[in-house]
Amino acid sequence: MANWRLKASLSATDTGGCQALGLTKEATDILLISAGFGPEHDSAKQTQPQSTPRPPLQRPPRAFHFTGRADELRRLIDQLQPGAVVTLCGPGGVGKTALAAEAIWALAPGDEPPARFPDGVLFHTFYHQPQAALALEAIARAYGEEPRPTPQDAARRALSGRAALLVLDGAEAADDLGAVLSVAGGCGVLVTSRRHADAPVCWQDVAPLPNPEAVQLLQAWGGVRAADQAAAGRICTLVGRFRSPCGWRGATWRGAARGRPTTWPGWRRRDWRRCISASASATACRCCWSGASPR
Ligand SMILES: Nc1ncnc2c1ncn2[C@@H]1O[C@H](COP(=O)(O)OP(=O)(O)OP(=O)(O)O)[C@@H](O)[C@H]1O
Ligand SMILES: [Mg+2]
Repeated sequence: MANWRLKASLSATDTGGCQALGLTKEATDILLISAGFGPEHDSAKQTQPQSTPRPPLQRPPRAFHFTGRADELRRLIDQLQPGAVVTLCGPGGVGKTALAAEAIWALAPGDEPPARFPDGVLFHTFYHQPQAALALEAIARAYGEEPRPTPQDAARRALSGRAALLVLDGAEAADDLGAVLSVAGGCGVLVTSRRHADAPVCWQDVAPLPNPEAVQLLQAWGGVRAADQAAAGRICTLVGRFRSPCGWRGATWRGAARGRPTTWPGWRRRDWRRCISASASATACRCCWSGASPR
């Protein structure tokens, strides 16, 4: 029988019809699956009550080759508690989001929400979406609330009595961070920002990676092309004042894309020339120029 005809006739009879024909459960399953019905047609499952929706688990991607930051990570994980607001501050590219992501994954490595945040994890980045109203709407919808009468009311309703972790990334871009913070209730909040002024309470500065770890990371990114220990070390020292190799990678990629390395604040051609010449083999520089994939 053609699949569609089998499906049409089965949709009329369903599992009850199969049982009436005297088919075993296994034979019924095979017939239903081959007709294109999913396991949801299992009669046992159909009689089960609707399970409650899983809490949201919105985790940002982890950094490739996450390196160092053991102390910062431990402290951050300790501080992320229901009702607490933690702000990570630092210049662009220093590693705020990477650190936040690592902490979130440490708290929720599997499919379950973190034990201390049983109502899940909500992640919103204000980059490209600076409107607080959009963040509030996303929060409301994550718990099945329509954003009425206003997104702020709905988000407050959604988080009321809940213990979730709210991650607000790139807060310096938000048009009204306060509006989003005001709905947090007893949830934990993790903010990342380039500005201290965005910290609702106190903040933690994320410093550039120390040189040995910066070298380790540069070599992880560059592989054999950055194997020259001395060259990699000199490059990290040279660019250290530009936050870290993390930010520097962004700078070199941007520079390479525009054909000139002058787009990074404070970066001068002289610095660039020194950077190139600092690397005898130029291996690490080449790896950055070519936008070497970290994988
Ligand atoms: N400790 C680390 N180990 C490995 N990679 C890192 C680390 N810290 C940052 N990175 C990588 O460096 C780049 C910049 O880091 P990240 O995006 O976290 O910076 P940021 O401080 O959040 O910057 P911005 O203010 O622009 O959002 C990313 O590609 C990130 O994955
Ligand atoms: Mg960031």
